[in-house]
Amino acid sequence: MKTSVNLIFNVVFLVLLISPSVFSWKKDEFRNCNQTPFCKRARSRKPGACNLIATDVSISDDGDLIAKLIAKIPENNEAQDLPTEVNSKPLLLVVSVYQDGILRLKIDEDQSLNPPKKRFEVPDVIIDEFLSKKLYLQRLSEEKIDNDVGFSSVVYLDNDYEGVLRHDPFEVFVRERGNGKRVLSMNSNGLFDFEQSREKTEGEDWEEKFRGHTDTRPYGPHSISFDVSFYGADFVSGIPEHATSLALKPTSGPGVEDGFSEPYRLFNLDVFEYIPESPFGLYGSVPFMISHGKARGSSGFFWLNAAEMQIDVLGSGWNAGEEKIKSPVDEKRIDTLWMSEAGVVDAFFFVGPGPKDVVRQYIGVTGRPAMPQLFATAYHQCRWNYRDEEDVFGVDSKFDEHDIPYDVLWLDIEHTDGKRYFTWDKLLFPNPKEMQNKLAEKGRHMVTIVDPHIKRDENYHIHKEASNNGYYVKDASNRDFDGWCWPGSSSYVDMVNPEIRNWWADKFSYINYVGSTPSLYIWNDMNEPSVFNGPEVTMPRDALHGGIEHRELHNAYGYYFHMATSNGLLKRENGNDRPFVLSRAFFPGTQRYGAVWTGDNTADWDHLRVSVPMILTLGLTGISFTGADVGGFFGNPEPDLLVRWYQLGAYYPFFRAHAHQDTRRREPWLFGERNTELIREAIHTRYMFLPYFYTLFREANVTGTPVLRPLWMEFPADEETFSNDEAFMVGNSLLVQGIYTQRANHVSVYLPGEQSWYDMRTGATYKGGKRHKFEVLEESVPSFQRAGTIMPRKDRFRRSSTQMEKDPYTLVIALNSSKEAEGELYIDDGKSFEFEHGAYIHRHFKFSNGKLTSSNAAPYAAGGKRFSTECIVERIILLGLSPATKSALIEPANQKVEIELGPLTLRPGWSPSVLTIRKPNLRIAEDWTIKIL
Ligand SMILES: *[C@@H]1O[C@H](CO)[C@@H](O)[C@H](O)[C@H]1NC(C)=O
Ligand SMILES: *[C@@H]1O[C@H](CO)[C@@H](O)[C@H](O)[C@H]1NC(C)=O
Repeated sequence: MKTSVNLIFNVVFLVLLISPSVFSWKKDEFRNCNQTPFCKRARSRKPGACNLIATDVSISDDGDLIAKLIAKIPENNEAQDLPTEVNSKPLLLVVSVYQDGILRLKIDEDQSLNPPKKRFEVPDVIIDEFLSKKLYLQRLSEEKIDNDVGFSSVVYLDNDYEGVLRHDPFEVFVRERGNGKRVLSMNSNGLFDFEQSREKTEGEDWEEKFRGHTDTRPYGPHSISFDVSFYGADFVSGIPEHATSLALKPTSGPGVEDGFSEPYRLFNLDVFEYIPESPFGLYGSVPFMISHGKARGSSGFFWLNAAEMQIDVLGSGWNAGEEKIKSPVDEKRIDTLWMSEAGVVDAFFFVGPGPKDVVRQYIGVTGRPAMPQLFATAYHQCRWNYRDEEDVFGVDSKFDEHDIPYDVLWLDIEHTDGKRYFTWDKLLFPNPKEMQNKLAEKGRHMVTIVDPHIKRDENYHIHKEASNNGYYVKDASNRDFDGWCWPGSSSYVDMVNPEIRNWWADKFSYINYVGSTPSLYIWNDMNEPSVFNGPEVTMPRDALHGGIEHRELHNAYGYYFHMATSNGLLKRENGNDRPFVLSRAFFPGTQRYGAVWTGDNTADWDHLRVSVPMILTLGLTGISFTGADVGGFFGNPEPDLLVRWYQLGAYYPFFRAHAHQDTRRREPWLFGERNTELIREAIHTRYMFLPYFYTLFREANVTGTPVLRPLWMEFPADEETFSNDEAFMVGNSLLVQGIYTQRANHVSVYLPGEQSWYDMRTGATYKGGKRHKFEVLEESVPSFQRAGTIMPRKDRFRRSSTQMEKDPYTLVIALNSSKEAEGELYIDDGKSFEFEHGAYIHRHFKFSNGKLTSSNAAPYAAGGKRFSTECIVERIILLGLSPATKSALIEPANQKVEIELGPLTLRPGWSPSVLTIRKPNLRIAEDWTIKIL
């Protein structure tokens, strides 16, 4: 979705510049660090500049470690070294400890001193369950570390870790118990700075101007910055959303690459035609960083703060030549600098030690990913725009004609009556209910777009109610903020207020959303929020949400909108239909409300490539249900790019094709028979693996471990994987390598670990721990099943996932060197919340000692509900058994079955090492054993 105003700008630009490139990111429209005073100030601070020390350290009645941070009077007592009076007010520091080894650090102004402004703390992100896991500190031990003159206070974190508050200089860190090795720390470089709110002094000017916009900044500077160090780290990752590599490149210090001299920016923006290699901030923000290293493993740091943030990854040697600050720690580490325009310090330290542990710890704070409906994990067809009902039915029937399954058809902004959301264009979509019902007969669903900008039209009921109730965000002079977006003059619903979110949620009831049916779901776009005529295409920072300035919560606006929409769908079905809402903007906690996509990408090979690190990064921050627009939003993909995109996109957790209004139509059958065949095969691959994907979504739902994983998440000790973001794991069993160049003949694929891998087409085996060269096939991107795993599939192709419900399963057993393998299958009704009361089947498959066993992986919840299915296993494929194996015995039925040679998939491609048991006809829900004879 994109800005037509921007389009006009762009055209003007092109004409002016006679630019040879069709796609151009308009860098000048956005602020850089030098044009952002708080960032410029923080970046120019010298190591050791922080003069704060911790005093009055004690344990509070709430079981927290508390202290005051005050400025240290320099020994020589020279006047110019004295801190300004205002910043010498003490800050309050609170360290609390939670189960699972989580340390939380809060630093704020002392409210008892009545600061001119109460700083904003982000509500509704931290889940209640986390708060209930607080440990009450009883005892404080003090010790001298690192030859300090002063003391450090040490608190218990868990059996293996402890938290340390060093008093002078002030520093907070987590270390291993026993050996005292540091894990991560704050202010070890003395860069901490906290601009306390204050009254304006005579003649002082707080206004900031940028490209004709004035930010009144009535509260003046109140930014916060500090350094965070990750010990034993080989690289850091996380802090989406940027179009860049998975392992974050340094942005400061020596060795900074071209284009990476700006900090990673976290400021939700609608960036027109973003470039595929930049630290520039895109649509969403998660201030959570994860580090990883061979020596120690992983750790994580999360700063809950919704204001603009800028983060530098400091290249090693960044502080060479600076006066060496007193730090005895010469260990390998990665230093980072975190800067935010407003808010408080509310930071979380995660000790890991594995990558999955860090993600679990982070999810423990911000909530588990929602369990999607089954249909939402299948293929989605979108375009700006499917013009009218005829177009919809035409596309729908072509899918059937070409034997291509799809589950969801999407309608972009043009379906509405003049961009008034919750309405329909009466000429183009006269019968929306009949239209949805017709799709629903084939088990298909529809999604319509609902954005947060509301057309200022007195005859539009949403506008009338919102303006009468005072539900809009206000501008700096306290009038309804009026900005330009799709409908023209628009106002923006103030989603931070729970009452207003409730009102919004009610708009999704079948009565209020006229023309909606139970098979209709929602897409939230433009929720950064995008304001075409606003500074940096967003809302002015001095706009007001009640008493809160927009600058303080900007990055969370889209999150609250997503939340309100998701709750709306929940309400409409009395809470027993899992919502599906796709959002472009995101924030920590978004994983609880729905899916996210990587916004307006471009139809070129570099964007195809960068989609993988972008999706992997989101997954590390708990937002697992993500994808990139297949085909690329802007521009017209060459057929081979489109095919490669389908072949890769079939493994995205969220699999949707989408295209800009100005692009040529590109439904799968428009590029000749051969390309149709290739795209069909790619989409079939996804449908075949749906049982595996759904099982992975459940794993994410319970543990936070993402569906798509960096190789190092599964092979944390294999250094070869650390910089690899061209390949990825789907769950723990499947490795996929994208093809990112046109007419590639060969591709080099690194297969990690000690065990071997089975080619998903042929069943041929390849050794792990090695790079292999493969011929590139037109038919698919390279994919491999890891030895020692079992994957469930459904191999019959239907019109939609819904129609596959009763289809039989195939199990693919890939044996490792000890002739063993393991896997899981999760099944429920695919729609409702009954699974939360025990209505699901969770099987565990294990092959060992020549026997395949299916057993119950999760005992039914006591007194809980049940889910049952008649589905059977129709085929078992065995990889890695001797081809001489001829038969097997099914127990308890005591029935002998033949073992034959057979293909691995229903496609051509055959290997003598693939054995098949046809029609064992075992019930998937029951316990059974198959003994190889
Ligand atoms: C799983 O998803 C459901 C539905 O989205 C959610 O309510 C629940 O908290 C999630 N986590 C677990 C462990 O069920
Ligand atoms: C083979 O796979 C099984 C099941 O995943 C596992 O328990 C076993 O450790 C593996 N054997 C080797 C040698 O890796």
